[in-house]
Amino acid sequence: MADGNKRHHSGKENCNDKSHWVPEIGDHYLVKRSDNTLHAAEIIQVRQNEFGTQELYVHYEGFDRRLDEWVDLDRLDLSSKCEDPQSKNGELTISLADFTDGTDRKITRNQKRKHDEINHVQKTFAEMDPTTAALEKEHEAITKVKYIDKIQFGKYEIDAWYFSPYPEEYGKQPKLWVCEFCLKYMKLEKSFRYHQSQCTWRHPPGKEIYRKGTISVFEVDGKDWKIYCQNLCLLAKLFLDHKTLYFDVEPFMFYILVEVDRYGCHLVGYFSKEKESPDGNNLACILTLPPHQRKGYGKFLIALSYELSIIEGVVGSPEKPLSDLGKLSYRSYWTSVLLDCIYRMGVKVSMRELEKMTSISYMDVVSTLQSLNLIKYWKGNHILCVTPKLIEELYQKVCKKPPLLVDPTCLRWEKPLSKLPVKVAKR
Ligand code: ACO
Ligand code: ZN
Repeated sequence: MADGNKRHHSGKENCNDKSHWVPEIGDHYLVKRSDNTLHAAEIIQVRQNEFGTQELYVHYEGFDRRLDEWVDLDRLDLSSKCEDPQSKNGELTISLADFTDGTDRKITRNQKRKHDEINHVQKTFAEMDPTTAALEKEHEAITKVKYIDKIQFGKYEIDAWYFSPYPEEYGKQPKLWVCEFCLKYMKLEKSFRYHQSQCTWRHPPGKEIYRKGTISVFEVDGKDWKIYCQNLCLLAKLFLDHKTLYFDVEPFMFYILVEVDRYGCHLVGYFSKEKESPDGNNLACILTLPPHQRKGYGKFLIALSYELSIIEGVVGSPEKPLSDLGKLSYRSYWTSVLLDCIYRMGVKVSMRELEKMTSISYMDVVSTLQSLNLIKYWKGNHILCVTPKLIEELYQKVCKKPPLLVDPTCLRWEKPLSKLPVKVAKR
């Protein structure tokens, strides 16, 4: 592609000669991604790196913003300048938007949705309603560039996915050093090494509410451990696009999942939960740190959030919007839990009974079973419309034993006092 033979729109002879070329923010070109494929991308920002050479921050059209990155000029094909990104993108990348899977086979709406989620295809502004589009544009403007490229966290160097509002001088560092125990962040490796020799923390603050084998969960009140929880939110924001809670942590409880070894409790992930949720949310934000993803910790945390709701005797649902990975994890959790329940209870079980047994809200029960094509709407009610044989088949197919189960006998947690019904004193 970058053969230099094609004519550049400006008529220059060698269209990929970048020596006199001035990058313009907002322009679109084909850019080579790390897997060597070319994609239409928008230039978001320009900077000089430490060696004095220019780098561009680019967003690949139609892809999740966590794939935005700084690239050298070599990766850009100057001959491919594109005036109309929407239409050009359709031609230039594999067309993800049409409803075929590349083999002339039409795919269903559900398959298309799953495909889009797995491939992180995002809605365009034109596909959104006007209010959402305006909010999205504002959000994008504020969080355009993730200056912090990576963090050192314990033994892991982790690439950041999104912008996080670390205070001024910290927020502009290419790399931050974060203590994996107290979550203090530092600009310099030197300070980090010194901190490591001084820091006495070896586990999260708060109360250990779960322990089984090498896995523990600590419950931390945002009111009691404000700085720790704020630092956790700043860290989490590096991997979450749409969450805005960083400083107002007091109304939340945080459930911190750690792996324990002889050096201490290493943070793997967490979820936060509003102490009082008028919308019935039993989880606000969930994160598994990238080195620990896809090992079942996400579904473990989701399962724990529902265990807490079962103990509280309420139903719950995660806060919206869910990210692409959030949707995949929730859908997978809901599907396996509901199929397991139907398998055990029989196909006569009602939606309300399923809600009661699992604490998964009625809406989430219905939408999950709808996506599996297992229910119909009859006389004002959603009812299961499936044979025991089909349930058995689906159950065998979907309910592979999850790698990590929450063992309720290892959970030491009681409904908070504030949520107990107030006793009326007898006269
Ligand atoms: N691509 C395809 N499927 C994936 C991917 C991926 N990158 N990541 C997870 N999955 C699927 C898994 O295959 C699994 O499904 P399966 O059991 O049917 O195979 C399911 O999602 C859950 O996998 P886990 O290993 O249990 O989850 P993980 O520990 O990776 O954590 C989480 C999931 C928390 C969403 C993680 O991806 C993450 O932290 N992402 C960044 C932050 C985020 O987006 N959080 C959710 C925001 S929404 C909210 O907070 C309410
Ligand atoms: Zn520390």
